[in-house]
Amino acid sequence: MSLDIVILAAGQGTRMRSALPKVLHPVAGNSMLGHVIHSARQLQPQGIHVVIGHGAELVRERLAADDLNFVLQDKQLGTGHAVAQALPAITADTVLVLYGDVPLIEVETLQRLLAKVSDKQLGLLTVTLQDPTGYGRIVRNGEGQVTAIVEHKDASEAQKAIKEGNTGILAMPAARLSDWMGRLSNNNAQGEYYLTDVIAMAVADGLVVATEQPHDPMEVQGANDRRQLSELERHYQLREGRRLMAQGVTLRDPARFDVRGEVTVGRDVLIDINVILEGKVVIEDDVQIGPNCVIKDSTLRKGAIIKANTHLDGAVMGEGSDAGPFARLRPGSVLEAKAHVGNFVELKNAYLGEGAKAGHLTYLGDAEIGARTNIGAGTITCNYDGANKFKTVMGEDVFIGSNNSLVAPVEIKAGATTAAGSTITQAVEAGDLAVARARQRNISGWKRPEKIKKS
Ligand code: UD1
Ligand code: CA
Repeated sequence: MSLDIVILAAGQGTRMRSALPKVLHPVAGNSMLGHVIHSARQLQPQGIHVVIGHGAELVRERLAADDLNFVLQDKQLGTGHAVAQALPAITADTVLVLYGDVPLIEVETLQRLLAKVSDKQLGLLTVTLQDPTGYGRIVRNGEGQVTAIVEHKDASEAQKAIKEGNTGILAMPAARLSDWMGRLSNNNAQGEYYLTDVIAMAVADGLVVATEQPHDPMEVQGANDRRQLSELERHYQLREGRRLMAQGVTLRDPARFDVRGEVTVGRDVLIDINVILEGKVVIEDDVQIGPNCVIKDSTLRKGAIIKANTHLDGAVMGEGSDAGPFARLRPGSVLEAKAHVGNFVELKNAYLGEGAKAGHLTYLGDAEIGARTNIGAGTITCNYDGANKFKTVMGEDVFIGSNNSLVAPVEIKAGATTAAGSTITQAVEAGDLAVARARQRNISGWKRPEKIKKS
């Protein structure tokens, strides 16, 4: 079976009350349309055709990719009209229709649906709902076979009582499509060309309509407003949380946990409340993440500990290393095993060798720090002269006193010590002590100034 997928994404989404086209609104950090495209790709179709209209330029710009064919639907004359726009590009023998604002559809559900399609059979995804108001209703004959879909606005009272609704998602043999598309009319309550009318046509042509249902109705839930968007977001997050728990992660509260990207986890990982994982995050066994941490595009090796309110972006934390509370590791931060970064420490493009420590109130930018080196509280690298960035290099077992300014480029060699309060501008040789601060002088009998009396 060869497959073409058509994704309808031309609608306006007035109820979002937004300048952003509806399908670009994010769920879990990716646009709704992005999620649908991601699922579509997993089916390995020969073509993905995205029908765009409202905000077409922005949608195309944001999602452009070599494997996507964008088709412009100038006027939104209905779902049937939308599919018809993609027709000239269809070459496969099966066509699957998806929706850019229905982001949580599972690949497994679509595979079940596609298994139903043949040249004599359509696959239609339906959902049984307590309140199917607004949905097209699935009309079945005495033998229980689907004969038609009737839109809510066109339905009789008896038809409105049907609880089985149309999700809109369907898979059809492509050979029939151009004939059916040509026969669509807009003679209905909404004056639109309904895709749903192909069902009755298919039945009249002697095809069978086979139905499937999603395991979870949220898979076929669209987002028409921001409330529904938030419901999809929570549902996605709970699903993701359950997936991680099944792999051996303890989530202190799955309702206060967010993934906005791709996460891989080991076993016996502990994640406290209000943690956000973004981009590509790799978490190995025994990692502990405290509350209120944001971790983006980072790797946490076995047993790493991240304490409360810590922010990681593009960082690697080695085995048994720890950071925080209130630490910030910016892109290019690498902690080797057992390295330690404490509170109010910021790292950028900084390498800390095994067991190196920066415990308090420190900025290390463009720095290479040897194993076991200890950086005193309040120390900063002066890595930027307003135009260029320079590197600070420290050997192993260096001891940097508190409140140093390390003016890069500068090197402090193995085993060297710098005195508290030093401004280091020159290389310090191995084992030396550098004292680079004004000598203290005491003035005895000093009189403090007194306030001048105003007359
Ligand atoms: C459609 C179905 C209905 C189903 C419901 C599920 C039809 C006629 N009806 O109704 O049976 O129960 O979905 O939500 O298909 N779109 C375009 N171009 C258009 C019109 C729509 O791209 O010209 C896109 C919209 O952006 C949207 C989707 O198609 O993503 C569905 O369109 P909408 O008008 O919301 O259809 P419904 O009335 O909800
Ligand atoms: Ca709709």
